Amino acid sequence: MPDILAQSLTLPCGAILPNRIAKAAMTEGLASPAGVPTPQLEKLYGLWSDGGAGLLLSGNIIIDGAHLERPGNVVIEREPDAAMHEALVRWAQAATRNGNHCWAQISHAGRQTQKNVNPHPKAPSAVKVGLPGGQFGQPIALTVPEIEDIVRRFGVCAAAVKAAGFTGVQVHAAHGYLLSQFLSPRSNLRTDQYGGPLVNRARALLDAVKTVRAAVGPSFPVAVKLNSADFQKGGFDFADSLQVAQWLAAAGIDLLEISGGTYEQPKLLGVEGLEEEEPQQVAHSTLMREAYFVDFALAMRDKLSIPLMVTGGFRRRAAMEQAITAGGADLIGLGRPLCVVTDAPARLLAGQTELPRYEAQLALFPPWLSFLNRFKTLRTLASFAVQYWYYAQLDALGKTGAADPEKSVLAATRQVMSQQKRWLDARGRL
Ligand SMILES: Cc1cc2nc3c(=O)[nH]c(=O)nc-3n(C[C@H](O)[C@H](O)[C@H](O)COP(=O)(O)O)c2cc1C
Repeated sequence: MPDILAQSLTLPCGAILPNRIAKAAMTEGLASPAGVPTPQLEKLYGLWSDGGAGLLLSGNIIIDGAHLERPGNVVIEREPDAAMHEALVRWAQAATRNGNHCWAQISHAGRQTQKNVNPHPKAPSAVKVGLPGGQFGQPIALTVPEIEDIVRRFGVCAAAVKAAGFTGVQVHAAHGYLLSQFLSPRSNLRTDQYGGPLVNRARALLDAVKTVRAAVGPSFPVAVKLNSADFQKGGFDFADSLQVAQWLAAAGIDLLEISGGTYEQPKLLGVEGLEEEEPQQVAHSTLMREAYFVDFALAMRDKLSIPLMVTGGFRRRAAMEQAITAGGADLIGLGRPLCVVTDAPARLLAGQTELPRYEAQLALFPPWLSFLNRFKTLRTLASFAVQYWYYAQLDALGKTGAADPEKSVLAATRQVMSQQKRWLDARGRL
């Protein structure tokens, strides 16, 4: 078989990705307290650019500093001043130094903003994140002018990253962040033009995409990350997703990345949520055992002609190749393995057959304490703790150039929690 992963991909806007492997967005937590990119971000993205992926997606870049996805996010709320512009330029330069693409993922966390950032975040409706542990506050419903302002900011942010040398943008509409909250009938109870039928629930996303396209012009890649489903009873389901995907294609996006789940149901990481997973109407293939969303992409393919990227669970090169040959994916997104093995794409392209599965080993509680996972609050804490291990790897890569995979989940949790607290204290003093 010709090396399918090494083939280039031409996007509808005319841009060409040099191969079929993308580093999926992973929040870095390495911005300054003012939300400005730092030399650590340059170091991290330089490593990833050297690592062989045709496309790098940045972690969440936030369009409103009161709605961080986490402390340490890059924040672009307005047209950048000279210092912010220069910092973005240096970051984009490092991230594209091997001729690969680097796209900025732009986002607003809505109700998934942590309480220590904002005890009363804005969201489509006043529906709190349904997790125990008090990590998220009671949201306040957005007014229509506030929604219009958010849509405008997506455009401002897109123009800013384009001017700085990023080679594309991705609007984040997955994983339970603001635009995904609008899509879900569980978190969107509005009765105005942004709520109710799907066409209304998709309005904020479609308006944001339209504004972004107007800001960057026709020949610049615009992508969207969308859930195949939220996997929750009464939530955004696959039929909804398929319809929204078709509207996005009609709106002229260049790539749709398919993921799934939210904080309440973290299917994106293959992790079980506290509530039962809501089954979806989709044909199952054997590929699904490895790649969580590939069957959804296969089912979407019949209705969509735009390129699809599928992210979540891919570890074996054969599965990646099969997903592409079967027509389910044009681009393979990889996340967790690249938190340690920054050149995983180059290794795959050179013939390595499999990437490490850190997720299979990591746990907050040692086996003899695993009974603690029966308690909902502790289970939630434990799954955030594993996520903090990956955050600690990215932190080590940005600061020292090397990951620290021997670090325990507990040590990583302590480290990340204290770093986030220091960052927020420093931000509060600005
Ligand atoms: C440390 C970490 C940070 C993440 N941050 C983001 C993010 O900023 N934006 C996003 O869309 N997804 C984010 N994700 C989800 C990944 O993009 C990806 O969907 C997920 O890790 C599944 O892919 P994998 O199985 O290859 O890791 C993050 C995942 C991890 C592990």
